[in-house]
Amino acid sequence: MVGYCSNMESHHYDATAELHEVHMPAAWDRLRGVVGDTFGGIGPDGVIVDIGAGSGLGSAMLAEVTDAEIIALEPNATMRAMMVARLDTAGVLERVTVLAESVPEGLDGLPGRVDGVLVAHMLGHLTNEERTRLLEWIATSLTPGRDALLTVGVEVPEQGHEPVVDERTVGRFVYRVTHYMPGPGRYEGLFEVIDGQQRVVRSVHDAISWDTVTAADIRTALAGQPVDVTEPQPGVVLISSSTVT
Ligand SMILES: C[S@@+](CC[C@H](N)C(=O)[O-])C[C@H]1O[C@@H](n2cnc3c(N)ncnc32)[C@H](O)[C@@H]1O
Repeated sequence: MVGYCSNMESHHYDATAELHEVHMPAAWDRLRGVVGDTFGGIGPDGVIVDIGAGSGLGSAMLAEVTDAEIIALEPNATMRAMMVARLDTAGVLERVTVLAESVPEGLDGLPGRVDGVLVAHMLGHLTNEERTRLLEWIATSLTPGRDALLTVGVEVPEQGHEPVVDERTVGRFVYRVTHYMPGPGRYEGLFEVIDGQQRVVRSVHDAISWDTVTAADIRTALAGQPVDVTEPQPGVVLISSSTVT
């Protein structure tokens, strides 16, 4: 018998985890500079939370560019398995607490004060209400002078635009992901493994709700909170907690 904790265990991503793992590092290469600029000065007394941490690419980068303690919140067991393997290989497992939780319920178990928050490639999974709860938690939990870094919008095609295709070679196969936005609030991904004769060896079709969130949406949700919302590069939003109260 498997004993799960009291959280909402998620099975989404079990089927796509392998292809996710092959394709996500390119997105993280684009974030390396801004992650370092945002969190780089945080020392061992600081706590940074990685929300929807997935396979741990962001937590591993945080552990590389800071000396902070990291709390990684991730509801999917397959993604958590990849995360602990990655963090162990990086030699940083002792610094990262992995919570098998989801937003919004999991927010209640986090420290009341945090020195950084990372929300990468996951905001679109949340409903409007869940997103508002998360943004309010960030605004009220960030230590003054500290930042949250969120990715928005640009990683998947705009609705009505051509599908975005990404391919990588894995041994004798090519792993191909085709991303579509078929309508408002919808995302579809076709994940295919293709052999040397152009035959599809295996494939997964993913169709989920996905809200395309913008910096303006985040500004609107946080109006009246003592934070600044800026866009240091396309697709990246910083929520900075004011030092003036
Ligand atoms: C596209 S992956 C991104 C993972 C990681 N942040 C990255 O950028 O590599 C989205 C992740 O969000 C997680 N997720 C989905 N809904 C969530 C929720 N309500 N609360 C926390 N995490 C969630 C998924 O399980 C998945 O691991």
